[in-house]
Order: sequence, then C-alpha cells, then structure tokens
Amino acid sequence: MEKKRILTGDRPTGRLHIGHLLGSLQNRVKLQDEYDEYIIIANVQALADNFDNPGKVRENIEELLCDYYATGIDFDRAVVFIQSEVPEIDEIFVYLANFVSIQQIQHNPTIKTEIAQKGMDKSTPLGFFMYPIHQVADILSVNADLVPVGKDQAPMVEDTRRLARKFNSTYGMDVFNEPKALFGVEINVPGIDGKEKMSKSLNNCIYLSDSEKELREKVFKVYTDPNRIHATDPGKIEGNVAFLYMDLFNDKKAEVEEMKRRYREGNIKDVEVKERLFEVMNEKLTPIRERRKEAEGMKDELLRKALEGSLKTSDIAKETVEQMKKAMLLEFK
Ligand code: TRP
Repeated sequence: MEKKRILTGDRPTGRLHIGHLLGSLQNRVKLQDEYDEYIIIANVQALADNFDNPGKVRENIEELLCDYYATGIDFDRAVVFIQSEVPEIDEIFVYLANFVSIQQIQHNPTIKTEIAQKGMDKSTPLGFFMYPIHQVADILSVNADLVPVGKDQAPMVEDTRRLARKFNSTYGMDVFNEPKALFGVEINVPGIDGKEKMSKSLNNCIYLSDSEKELREKVFKVYTDPNRIHATDPGKIEGNVAFLYMDLFNDKKAEVEEMKRRYREGNIKDVEVKERLFEVMNEKLTPIRERRKEAEGMKDELLRKALEGSLKTSDIAKETVEQMKKAMLLEFK
C-alpha cells in the first residue's frame, strides 16, 4: 500500500517560534513515518514581500533547516525541499489561476489582514496578491492528502480543496485529491505581549533558538492580568497569556487547575506562576535547543539533503504537470 502524502512548510523569513512548534512542527515529527512527508522551504513565497531583501530570504533557509533538525524532523524520512528548485510549482500555479477570481482572493482572511498590516491597501503588488494560489500549487504539486498547519493557514487549505474540486469537475478527470488541514493546537498561539499572533515584526516571539536566559527573560515579561497589582488581588485567567502557555506546556492538568484557582482567589503571586511556567517550558525546549546547536555544525549537510529532496519533489511535480496538461489538452505527442 502506498503511503498517503503530507505537504507543509514555512517561509524562510525568520527563525521558528513556539507557535510553529505547537501549530505544525510537532505534527510533522509525529507523522513522518506514517506518511510520505514533504516539507517546503517557501523561498519564492517569501520573496513576494521581501523581493528587495533577497539576502534575508537566503540566510533564513539555513535557519529553517536548523529549526527542522532541532525539532526532530528526520531528513532521511521526510523530504525537505526548496521551492525555487521545483519550478513545476510555478507552472501548476499558472493553470490553477484560471479557477479563482480576484474577488475570492480578496476575501481570504489571512491575506486581507496581511495587506492591511503591510499598508498595501491602495497598491497591492500582484506577486504578493497571488501567493495564496501559489501556495495551493505547492500543496497540489505532490497531490497531498494532509496539510499540518497553524490555524492562520486554514484559508489556503480551503482554497486548495476548492480549486482541486473545480479542476477535477471542469475536465471530468480525477487529477487531484482534496487535501485536509490538520491543526496542532486549535488556536493561533498569541505573543508574549498578549497580541493575537506571535510574529517577528511584532517582536513578541519565543524562538526555538532562544537561550535559557532569553527564555527566562521573556517568560517574566509575559502578559498576565494588567489590573492585578497585588498578589492578594483576585486575578483573571481569560486573556492571561501566562496561563494560556501553561495550558499548552504543562501536562499536569491538576496542578494547572489548582494554580488557576489560587490565581482567581488572589492567593498566588505572578512570579510564582511565571517561575513554574519557565520550568515547564524550559523542560520542553531544552532538548530542542541542544539539537539546534548540533545542527549549526551541519548546515552544509542539511542543505545538500534539501537539494536532493528538491530533485525528488520535482520528479513528482512533473507527473502532476503531465496529468494537468493531459486534462487541458496540452499534449502534443
Ligand atoms: N504560508 C506558509 C506560512 O507562512 C508557508 C507555506 C508555503 C506553506 N507553502 C505552503 C504551508 C504549503 C503549508 C503548505 O507559514
């Protein structure tokens, strides 16, 4: 029996943080045996809003490789590849673009927010505007069955399902599966400042590469209940990032409930909560940090593996292109 396929990945624009870990990376590690797993380093997508800063994109490819290795992705089992080394994706994108309207892309909540954040409302570069559909091409290039991602990527997977369906029904051929999204945690992990999303530009991330000291400093800055001045004031758990992280990192649920009760009653200091939070987070992040150190001495080897992975992915994507061309009567032999 052939294994089912996974495709997921990241833009090389910065180091990965705990949002990535909980949203997608842990699922990738868990599923790398059960599935044929393809992990895309989306450097073409990254250039869409960094075309004037190619050095940043290039450098962050290595950072991503190290983050992958650190979290336990096995480069001999999972196929890590570089998007620009698989130009078939661009070809697939052009054909898929016929199946989506500009208005539909405008309604994609993720790109809508990004356009507003980046001040692109008045003038949206075409390259950036089309990236959600280019991402659909990433996923369909290997005809994936499953896409492990964070919640913010849900609209792209929805687009993928819709376009796969439309392509199949238009030509009366079953070229594509309708891949499903797989979410790790059911939320967007907020930043340490309590803002909705952990993001490099907001400077509110806890990175996988952070040292123990950096982790400690950040945990002690985590947004709690701003109205609680004294340890004897009753505190709020809702919107309290310390407890949100505690839920995500502390497996001892009874202990967490006990702390929450004490917090609500005004019977525990913020520092005590944060000290414990640091402990449980550090316990999970220490092995990752240590493996990341190891990876830093292996960059050349990891890059070589990613180039091998690109050749492998390209072979599969060529088959996809062939099937699409057959459906669209673009075969001339
Ligand atoms: N857009 C994703 C992100 O910003 C990265 C990505 C590119 C991706 N292509 C993909 C994710 C395909 C899943 C599947 O994190």
